[in-house]
Amino acid sequence: MHKDIESIYYSADEISAAVRAVAAEITRDYAGKNPLFLCILKGSFIFASDLIRATELDSRVDFMEVRSYGNETVSSGVITVTKDIKTDIAGRDVIIIEDILDTGRTLGYIKKMLLERKPASVKICTLLDKMVEKADNVKADYKCFDIENQFVVGYGLDYAQDYRNLPYIGILKKEVYSK
Ligand code: PRP
Repeated sequence: MHKDIESIYYSADEISAAVRAVAAEITRDYAGKNPLFLCILKGSFIFASDLIRATELDSRVDFMEVRSYGNETVSSGVITVTKDIKTDIAGRDVIIIEDILDTGRTLGYIKKMLLERKPASVKICTLLDKMVEKADNVKADYKCFDIENQFVVGYGLDYAQDYRNLPYIGILKKEVYSK
């Protein structure tokens, strides 16, 4: 285990099983369709690559980068799209892939923006869903895990851009972010 991690919240094996189960659900729900997986950078990149490979569907992939946290452990509430997609989503089924749904502000903002482009549908698939109140009735259509209001890193999730490469999801030692 990494020296800055206090404990493992979800192991690599648990993540892999949960990702495969969600991929099977998406494969069933989108049979015969050709959805666009829209990965929200940066946090979703590892989850997205495992999830998309585990689906058995014709599909496309695009990436949008959105910032909402800065280098803090709590949401700043200020959302900025730093990289938009070029794909025309009119008439397409879009599946947004996120690493974590917290207050829901980020996904509420993105979903609203996408709906203005007249897609056939927009669904949300998140690795983690924090058990906190959500803004704008945002809810996950697909999720791997619910998570308590803890700050976690690994499997794509960062603290100040570090720890994204950890193969598990872990809780950071307090002294790391109180330094
Ligand atoms: C995280 C996460 C979501 C957002 C969730 O992104 O990937 O986009 O925060 O929070 P919310 O539900 O309260 O809006 P972050 O800004 O940390 O960027 P990153 O994906 O590059 O790590």
